[in-house]
Amino acid sequence: MADILMSAPLFVALNDDAAIALRASMVEVTFAKGGVIFSEGDGGDRLYVVLEGKVKLGVSSSDGRENLLSVQGPGEMFGELSLFDPGPRTATATALTDCRLFGLGHEDLKEWLTGRPELAQSLLQALAQRLRRANEAMGDLVFADVPGRVAKALLDLSVRFGVQRGDGVHVTHDLTQEELAQLVGASRETVNKALADFASRGWILLEPRGVTILDVDKLNRRGA
Ligand code: CMP
Repeated sequence: MADILMSAPLFVALNDDAAIALRASMVEVTFAKGGVIFSEGDGGDRLYVVLEGKVKLGVSSSDGRENLLSVQGPGEMFGELSLFDPGPRTATATALTDCRLFGLGHEDLKEWLTGRPELAQSLLQALAQRLRRANEAMGDLVFADVPGRVAKALLDLSVRFGVQRGDGVHVTHDLTQEELAQLVGASRETVNKALADFASRGWILLEPRGVTILDVDKLNRRGA
């Protein structure tokens, strides 16, 4: 657990003493699978680091359609935008699995940011990485077809949640097919068709809420 926390953007630049002090100002919270951590439009007063489990970040349109921005796993952070740009939460955070999080009040974080420029720098880096990813996802929505986007999403999930096994990379993403479609920004039918096609070619093995990637190279080429 300590390692997971230390790898989070908040902690990565701090020495041991500072990390212990920062850890002491954080509060541990748990959510059961399906629990809403906060909703889009809420006032935001804290950010979270995932210790265990997965959290999905989603937005919905006025006609009720859902889009997933991201799935956050151990060591990843969310809920910081409403600190840097005070305003309502930009997405709804929901526990995809039972999860354990560390929360840090924005006011507490502000004090740390004033005293520790290295912490501000690593948070800026995390924000910049998020912007890069968002730009790439936007480009893919315009330039890539649905199977290409599905291939990329599976590879991204495999980098973050995959475990190498004898037959390939086993990825427990904990997403339903509907949620996977929301992450890719396409209909469930089109995403299912792409998954079935990859499976019939022997590139992946479909499992409930997971997938084993048997041929990373082929999937990489399809997502390129
Ligand atoms: P905040 O707006 O406080 O609450 C919702 C959180 O979702 C936000 O902070 C970010 O941490 C996260 N978030 C918003 N947009 C994205 C995105 N495009 N990719 C990943 N995470 C995001």
